[in-house]
Amino acid sequence: MTETAHPRRVFSGIQPSGNLTLGNYLGALRRFVEMQEAGVPALYCVVDMHAITVWQEPAKLRAAIRELTAAFLACGLDPARSIIFNQSQVPAHAELGWILSCVARIGWLNRMTQFKDKAGKDREAASVGLYSYPTLMAADILAYHATEVPVGEDQKQHVELTRDIAAKFNHDYGVDYFPLPAPIIEGVATRVMSLRDGTRKMSKSDPSDMSRINLTDDADAIAQKIRKARTDPDPLPETYAALAERAEARNLVNIYAALSGLDRDAVVTEFAGRPFSDFKPALADLAVSHLAPVTARIQELLADPAEIDAVLGDGAERAAEIAEPILARTRDIVGFVSSR
Ligand code: AMP
Ligand code: TRP
Repeated sequence: MTETAHPRRVFSGIQPSGNLTLGNYLGALRRFVEMQEAGVPALYCVVDMHAITVWQEPAKLRAAIRELTAAFLACGLDPARSIIFNQSQVPAHAELGWILSCVARIGWLNRMTQFKDKAGKDREAASVGLYSYPTLMAADILAYHATEVPVGEDQKQHVELTRDIAAKFNHDYGVDYFPLPAPIIEGVATRVMSLRDGTRKMSKSDPSDMSRINLTDDADAIAQKIRKARTDPDPLPETYAALAERAEARNLVNIYAALSGLDRDAVVTEFAGRPFSDFKPALADLAVSHLAPVTARIQELLADPAEIDAVLGDGAERAAEIAEPILARTRDIVGFVSSR
């Protein structure tokens, strides 16, 4: 079957659960803004239905949805150019999610590493939603016929599963309906690592706050976390390649490169032969100069929750306008009778 050319459309989502980290900023938010600037039509979604796959206190969830929306806006997403909305306001996600859960195979979901990580040892006690999470994510993407999905490295497996689900739907129903979306994993910070352990990714859910930089950290906290970040006793080498076996040192250089826009070798050359005690204050200054305006803007925006809700409401309406006809055709392909 030949694939119909679908027009370019970007979709990505972030869960409103806990504080955003420097990993989310470099791996996702900054990339979203770059794609917006490149002029590709895009939807950026606060995936509140994904958030409840683990328990969320309702009042905290509501606050987290508004905070994440404020962060989207503070980073430079513009509701006039990109569609910004929360998932639960567009019922098409849940409905298509059901249909796609009937396309996806249990064996496919069993391979998902995020479920294994999040469910931990007591898998029997995890919610059914946590397990079927990737079928809802596939629906998020496919409900808009999105062709590109900018994400961090950890989400690659879920986007590949979305491609498999789209291909099986097309095959089973003998149609060429859903595009196979491509994960867009680019830049030098697709996997920002913990400041305490260079083998683990920086995560909102790490029990140690010292392991991550939060978008809400003030300048002192950022400087302290970078000063205390784990490194080894050696100075910076002459080339980036020489950091191959030094995960923590490499992570700090990657963060510096991502924030400064310099390439990694240029960063290493600038500091070659100098100790990390010289490099860390420079990195802290760079991080503060990038994050302080974002943090300040988030706080300003949060002073007016009605305005944030208006952005989400307007975005949801525009999102639904795209998704509803795609869903209507899906129902028809599946063989449902629609007569109302
Ligand atoms: P999450 O925090 O899991 O909701 O992730 C939201 C987005 O941020 C996804 O695109 C992730 O791939 C990305 N992301 C999360 N943590 C990191 C990290 N440590 N490095 C790079 N990207 C990340
Ligand atoms: N699963 C993603 C994460 O944990 C969030 C997400 C949900 C997403 N739906 C999406 C990302 C659709 C990209 C596209 O980070």
